[in-house]
Amino acid sequence: MTIILGLESSCDETAAALVTARGDILAHRLATQEEAHRPYGGVVPEIAARAHVEVLTPLIAGALADAKLTLDQVDVIAATAGPGLIGGVMVGLVTGKALAHAAKKPLIAVNHLEGHALSPRLADPTLQFPYLLLLVSGGHCQLLHVKGPGAYARLATTIDDAAGEAFDKTAKLLGLGYPGGPAVELAAACGDPGAVPLPRPLLGTSEPHFSFAGLKSAVMRAAQSGAYRVEDIAASFQQAVIDCLIDRTARQLGAGLPANALVVAGGVAANKPIRAALEALAHRHDLRFVAPPLWLCTDNAAMIAWAGAERHAAGLIDDLTVPARPRWPLDPAAEKARGAGVKA
Ligand code: KG4
Ligand code: ZN
Repeated sequence: MTIILGLESSCDETAAALVTARGDILAHRLATQEEAHRPYGGVVPEIAARAHVEVLTPLIAGALADAKLTLDQVDVIAATAGPGLIGGVMVGLVTGKALAHAAKKPLIAVNHLEGHALSPRLADPTLQFPYLLLLVSGGHCQLLHVKGPGAYARLATTIDDAAGEAFDKTAKLLGLGYPGGPAVELAAACGDPGAVPLPRPLLGTSEPHFSFAGLKSAVMRAAQSGAYRVEDIAASFQQAVIDCLIDRTARQLGAGLPANALVVAGGVAANKPIRAALEALAHRHDLRFVAPPLWLCTDNAAMIAWAGAERHAAGLIDDLTVPARPRWPLDPAAEKARGAGVKA
């Protein structure tokens, strides 16, 4: 059975995992940098890159020890090659190249977004292509038609902030700390989602895209007004995000693309009310709903190893000159969405 070593270092988590081509997770180790970035209220790229240098190699050694394997027994090395903070990406990719060269193993340069996009098939081996994927993370908010490894059609993207970015900025505005997503979810659980009138940008429009910048500004005004409880603002914000995600996803489900399931992935997919709303939407459309377990939604190396497994099986192997890329769209042919600051 082919064994894949996966490495992840594109943001503020350093991770190494060993996964088989059948989807057995033999080991996964992760070091979060939350504490190092907390005083700054967000990820500081320089601090992140230095931390990856310090912890990645011991994590790889630890994962190999957990799985009782040596590097010689690994068949494929898969490392995130982008998109992400370039200093961190370079640490993981160069480490992967060095291991591949020294151990004479094939290298797979994995697009971090493909790691998220294929993670539901690691969680549920019965999930078949094609499927409709809502990819919601700190840097991205996209609807994708997933047809196979390396085969994606981007149907919609955000014209300004990503969904996770909106959660993180809202948390900062409300003084809930970092990382923002889980803190907002926790506060929202004690709030009234109908308490604060907030906009639902692009809801019901014929164009397919997402927008969260106006929502964030409205949250700021509500917070500054002093008229509302923090919990009520958090709950109202989360409900507005849910309404936008559901409206945009429902629009695609109505478009009639072939899909075996509605799938959600990326860090924001760890949000329980968002998962529940998407599950209800899938059922209204007589579709299966697949969401990875929470630990597989946020950044990790098992999803990178698994994307490496899928690409390896499809013969998609890279050579040792492959570049690290700060931006790397899954669907390079996708048209740019209108608006400034369009994310890849
Ligand atoms: O996929 P991920 O771990 O890293 C990126 O590739 O961006 O996603 C991180 C994002 C952050 O913005 C974080 O606030 C958000 O996912 N997030 C959540 C939750 N857990 C993480 N957002 C909402 N609710 C959560 N429970
Ligand atoms: Zn991610």
